[in-house]
Amino acid sequence: GVTRHYKFDIRLQNVTRLCHTKSLVTVNGKFPGPRIIAREGDRLVVKVVNHVPNNISIHWHGIRQLQSGWFDGPSYITQCPIQTGQSFVYNFTIVGQRGTLFWHAHISWLRATVYGPLIILPKHNASYPFVKPYKEVPIIFGEWWNVDPEAVIKQALQTGAGPNVSDAYTINGLPGPLYNCSKKDTFRLKVKPGKTYLLRLINAALNDELFFSIANHSLTVVEADALYVKPFTTNVLVITPGQTTNVLLKTKPHDPNAAFFMLARPYFTGLGTFDNSTVAGILEYDNSTSALNKRPHFKPVLPALNATSFVMNFTRKFKSLATAKFPANVPQTVQKRFFFTVGLGSNPCPKNQTCQGPNNSSKFSASINNISFILPTTALLQAHFFGKSNGIYTTDFPSVPLRPFNYTGTPPNNTVVTNGTKAIVLPFNTSVEVVLQGTSILGAESHPLHLHGFNFYVVGQGFGNFNPNKDPANFNVVDPAERNTIGVPSGGWVAIRFLADNPGVWFMHCHFDVHLSWGLKMVWIVQDGKLPNQKLLPPPADLPKC
Ligand code: C2O
Repeated sequence: GVTRHYKFDIRLQNVTRLCHTKSLVTVNGKFPGPRIIAREGDRLVVKVVNHVPNNISIHWHGIRQLQSGWFDGPSYITQCPIQTGQSFVYNFTIVGQRGTLFWHAHISWLRATVYGPLIILPKHNASYPFVKPYKEVPIIFGEWWNVDPEAVIKQALQTGAGPNVSDAYTINGLPGPLYNCSKKDTFRLKVKPGKTYLLRLINAALNDELFFSIANHSLTVVEADALYVKPFTTNVLVITPGQTTNVLLKTKPHDPNAAFFMLARPYFTGLGTFDNSTVAGILEYDNSTSALNKRPHFKPVLPALNATSFVMNFTRKFKSLATAKFPANVPQTVQKRFFFTVGLGSNPCPKNQTCQGPNNSSKFSASINNISFILPTTALLQAHFFGKSNGIYTTDFPSVPLRPFNYTGTPPNNTVVTNGTKAIVLPFNTSVEVVLQGTSILGAESHPLHLHGFNFYVVGQGFGNFNPNKDPANFNVVDPAERNTIGVPSGGWVAIRFLADNPGVWFMHCHFDVHLSWGLKMVWIVQDGKLPNQKLLPPPADLPKC
């Protein structure tokens, strides 16, 4: 591999969408941010210089950071944020990974504007396990607020109310023609007939899972979260925040003399307000754009907003490639089992109980096993590495819920949360199984759980209560999907397995930023192994201080 150098200047830039101009926190003045392209085996060296008033850090979402956890990026987990006027050099090697990932800010809600594709091509002499595409196109979904998203979450945490929703969804930063004052800000994908395109889809939206479809074209899924899958064809895709999906798009053999909308809009089953608007891009054949306005525009049909069984069926289609070259190394035995309830709670707090959500309020909170996680004021990885956990974190994160949970009986008395900075310690190379049970207390809602530092196998999922006596018999331990983000089904559960072979402190959280802010997060501490290549390397000299 080679070393690739990038410089990220974090600075303010005026950007206009929907006829609103505002000053955004950006990388190099770009919205969305610049593309990073590397090859498997390369070293990435990214110097991040902070010129804005906000503290910031950058996360390389899906990069395993083997032994290099200092460069993972979540603020107060693996590093203190980079303060105004300071810089930090992220420096890591991409080991055994290729595919579509992304990078984003990992503090507060700054990733609303600070994000971009991270594309890892196979090694020079390696090829894709599918037809070589004529062209590759990153398509990154996001959200646009007419106001400052930092103010939105700040106000929500102060008042205890749900945050205001965004004003538009975007494709590559563009809301498209279905929004007012947005026609010129439309993503157009110009294609030639009879070719195969690789679309690298990334959901960088803050708070919404999305359906995506292109009219009159089917899509063949070949990769998820930078891991090859057994190809399958679909008209509609579901993608949660934090997930990436590569699809092949085969264009029609002849110019169809028509234009086709690509649409994305949310999947949503929760309570409260949300934005059910639709972002549109346009798939255009050949170069005859002059004819375009006369052409009919076909629109794809998307599932209903709350199409939960569609989502479950779609999720189940993902299977590892599981070939000799790309094997599925599913842990066949489990050394540590965990049962986590994930969901919202404590609004209202039951009588005579103490509920401690964010800011010690008894308003909205989100939790895992009834713990609403509080970020410390210094970085956990440093505290762990230098053996100074005292007063920073404890290692008693519960392996089962503090309050028993059951869907049967109304309402489940699982709403009480305690807050804290708690971790689970895993010896090196422990094989772990986690059943993530959605609690759906304040409305059934799916939660896209993301694990840093690892990919995990999705061995089972279902609706209702997880049944420990029955469900494991149906687990797929042969070719389950391997991912870094999975939606805990609305009103259901999902079971994952991973091997704790990467020493460090690893964040696991809901990739809805609103739930992240409310505390739906926890950390795993994976201890060093005995051999030198099983140890976390020492911290870099320029590691930011809190
Ligand atoms: Cu993409 Cu911790 O996040």
